[in-house]
Amino acid sequence: MKKVFKSSLVFAVVLSAFLTGCSQKPGSSANVTPEQKTAASESSGSAAKKKEVVIGFSIGTMKQERWQREVKMAQKYADDHGFKLIVQSCEEDAAKQVQQVEGMLTQGIDALLISAQDSESSGVIVEKAHQAGVKVIAYDRLVRNGDLDYYITFDNVKVGELQAKMLTDRYPKGNYIWVLGGPEDNNAHLLKQGQESILKPFIDKGDINIVIQQWAKGWNPEEALKIAENGLTKVKNDVVAVVASNDGTAGGVIQALESQGLAGKVGVSGQDAEIAALQRIVEGKQTGTVYKPTQVLNQTAMDLAYALATKDEAKIKELDSGNFKNGHIGKVNNGPKDVTSLLMDVQTVTKENVLDTVVKDGYQKLEDIYKNVPKDQWPKTK
Ligand code: BGC
Repeated sequence: MKKVFKSSLVFAVVLSAFLTGCSQKPGSSANVTPEQKTAASESSGSAAKKKEVVIGFSIGTMKQERWQREVKMAQKYADDHGFKLIVQSCEEDAAKQVQQVEGMLTQGIDALLISAQDSESSGVIVEKAHQAGVKVIAYDRLVRNGDLDYYITFDNVKVGELQAKMLTDRYPKGNYIWVLGGPEDNNAHLLKQGQESILKPFIDKGDINIVIQQWAKGWNPEEALKIAENGLTKVKNDVVAVVASNDGTAGGVIQALESQGLAGKVGVSGQDAEIAALQRIVEGKQTGTVYKPTQVLNQTAMDLAYALATKDEAKIKELDSGNFKNGHIGKVNNGPKDVTSLLMDVQTVTKENVLDTVVKDGYQKLEDIYKNVPKDQWPKTK
């Protein structure tokens, strides 16, 4: 990944949006029903009456808690700004995602946000959108092989580094199981890059030995469970840590550890700050997670999509690059081009800093995180 620290005038909107987004409270965290997953959501407001603005939001999966929350946030943004939002999840079917976007384009959208199910094959979507005069923002997951307009995401290499580091800090020697994410998702490859950069010196020294390294297709927890089981069997349970690439797969891994009486004795990483993972962390079963403030990601992406959809040149021009304290602008190469990208900062969350991170931000509630812990063991809030 090549990063060029250069801001463009157009991308200044991202900066400003990001800065304003940071001061906003996160949206509702309630789940959406399966019916809502593929349903088009309409929002009507007085501002939209002149000419209805329509934005498409195409998602690869709704399985993880984060995507459900982000759809809610996007819907709230659309309600607040009075435009129509079409949300569709392809439920992990890359071909269906192409069809769904075709449908959105036929309906008539003014901008498209896409979280690609398959990073490699989603390039065609950009082509189709451009033919219809619609700009495309890759949301969280990169679209490769297309003339993509923008990419808004977290620093995924950094996520991988933090995942490995939370383990090597506590388990600098011994056998490791390495569960990679979904190979179809570019993010999983960036995570691997970050994880590798931390683990390699330990492996080269002979301090850490990788028992098994495998991709969990579709980020499937069941796959992660099987990989962990195979690794444990291979070395007769002599494992000190498991690199899990997200909280969902960490859940599968911890199930495998539990059935061997090893939960809490073996380190496990994750990412997403899912409620189930945070519960496992305070119960001592998972070492940590990586918190990615998705409310900021969502707000920033929606601000940019709305500015593009309304061709708000004045707004774009009025915004200056300013200070950018919660991430950096760079260029991410997606094959055909270096895409202007916003890479947001991330943070490790362990039992020690749960209060100062996810709780402080209102991302998750203390009473939910500590639900299974006796009340006298809850941390004191100020
Ligand atoms: C996201 C992770 C998520 C995973 C599975 C990745 O692209 O960055 O946050 O856990 O997909 O949905």
